[in-house]
Formats: sequence, C-alpha cells, structure tokens
Amino acid sequence: MDYQKVLDTIHEELSHRDVYGKVASYIPELAKVDPKKFGMHLYKGKGEHYSFGDSIEKFSIQSISKVFTLSMAMQLLGEDLWDRVDVEPSGDPFNSLTQLEYEKGIPRNPFINAGALVICDILVSNLDDPKKDLLEFVRKICDNDSIEYDHKIAASEKSTGYRNYALVNYMKALGNIKNEVEPIVDFYFHQCSLAMSCEELAKAFMIFANNGKMLETGEKILSKTKVKRINALMQTCGFYDEAGEFSFEVGLPGKSGVGGGIVAIHPAQYSVAVWSPILNEKGNSELGMAALEKLTTMTGLSIF
Ligand code: DON
Repeated sequence: MDYQKVLDTIHEELSHRDVYGKVASYIPELAKVDPKKFGMHLYKGKGEHYSFGDSIEKFSIQSISKVFTLSMAMQLLGEDLWDRVDVEPSGDPFNSLTQLEYEKGIPRNPFINAGALVICDILVSNLDDPKKDLLEFVRKICDNDSIEYDHKIAASEKSTGYRNYALVNYMKALGNIKNEVEPIVDFYFHQCSLAMSCEELAKAFMIFANNGKMLETGEKILSKTKVKRINALMQTCGFYDEAGEFSFEVGLPGKSGVGGGIVAIHPAQYSVAVWSPILNEKGNSELGMAALEKLTTMTGLSIF
C-alpha cells in the first residue's frame, strides 16, 4: 500500500472543498487559530511515516487528552474506576448537564466532559502533582520532551469555563467528586491545553494500536486488556453524539478535540492524526472526519 500516495490524494481532493462550520470560539484563544490549517500524519512502523500539510505544527489537543488521563486513571484504579464513571455512549453533547441529573451524577463515559472531570478528580486524589505526571506520561509515549501545556489556552478556557465548573459542582453535590472544585478544573483546563502536532499525536497513540507497547522500544505501557477497553471506548464514545457516524463513515476507534484534531488507530496497522480547526455542529473537525473517511475507503481497510 502506498500510504503517501493515499495521503497526497486526500490532501489534493479536500483542500479545494468548501468547509461549512466554525472554529471553536467558546474558548477565546481557540478562535484566533487560522481556519485554513490542514495537516495529517500516519505512523505505520519504524521509519514508516507519511504526512501532508501542517502536520508538524502544534495545536491545542483539547479532548484528545482525555485518552491519556483515562489511561493513567486505569493504571491507578483498575476496574474500580467503573464505579465512578460508566462505559455507555452518551448520545448527548459532550458538555451536557441534563444527562447527569437523571444518571444521578455518574457520567455516561470518560470522554464526555463530566466523565473526564471525574477522571481528573481521581488523578488529583492519587497523585501529588497530576500536571507533572501527565506531562511525563505523554512525553514518554511520544518519546519527545518538547511537549508542553499552553498556559494561555488554559487561562482562556478558565475565564469562560462556567459549564465545566457547573458539571463539577453538580457532581460534587451528588457525591461523585471528592476534592475541591478548583484543583480539578485547573488540572482539566491544563490537560486540554496540551499542544501537540499531528506527528506527535500519531506517535503517542501508537501504544493503542500496538497492544499497549511502544513500537520502537517494545516497552510495555498498558496491558492488553486496558488497551482493549480504551479502544472500545474510543469506538463507542470518542465522538460523543457523532460516535455512530464516525464508526459508520470511518470504521476506526478514535478521539476528537475542539481544537480540530482527530486521532484514530487501526490495531496492528497504524495510528493517524489529522488537524483542521473548522468544526461541525457536534464539535468535531469537518475536514478531519472527511480525511479519515477517505483514508479507510481508499485503502479498503478498517476494523470492520
Ligand atoms: O471542556 C471543554 O469544553 C474543552 N476543553 C474540550 C471539549 C472538546 O474538545 C470536545 N471535543 N470535541
């Protein structure tokens, strides 16, 4: 398979497309991003990398970071984690408050904001310095010490993050938050602000395509069972109320973020990241989804 040719065709076909949608603006700093940015990187194996466009430019990974924090919480708590957060698709927007009420404060899954905030609470309870440990985890699986938080983005989200404050407060009232609100949201806004490129994201996500092991060194980061669970959650919940559509169109486990990034993996084959900041009404990258749909259609390979 000539993956570079496939990526070049995707680039050529999609860069001329009219894209309807908007760059995320509820986090003021994100509204400043150039909507024309478009990059993709596919990481297949040692020395086998394929890319186009703005694939080495760092952007705000936002909710993609929820896969990293979930991995850390699973390492710390094992199966006890599932007493605090469920594993069902939400079918509702990622920042929904109403669902929490009838679910009695137990978020539907770890990828909607409420679920990710419970994961933050768990990491705040179990780690002395969760921000430092998250950075170490991501740097390790990416084999790259240049990964940093974007403090400007974190501060920008904090200044308008009323819904996330509301979610934590509400879950605290219902007994599913153990720490004070402030350290939880501070950690959450920082994890979302992580700045990474498509190339770095594809490399970091290779552990989910490779049974929990780093491809280049063989070092084991996560057990096979944990990777199975994380990939199942990406498949069923990674795109919120568009998870069905992503499975239907693309057929790979993946995770999106409102910075316009999407990462997907094909177990035992590759990991791939794409970035285009214009979002559809469900908060997922419009061109990013189209690019991944073309990838699995043109290669004739998906997990199904
Ligand atoms: O909490 C928020 O709203 C953002 N920091 C993250 C949301 C997000 O990325 C949703 N994904 N598409």
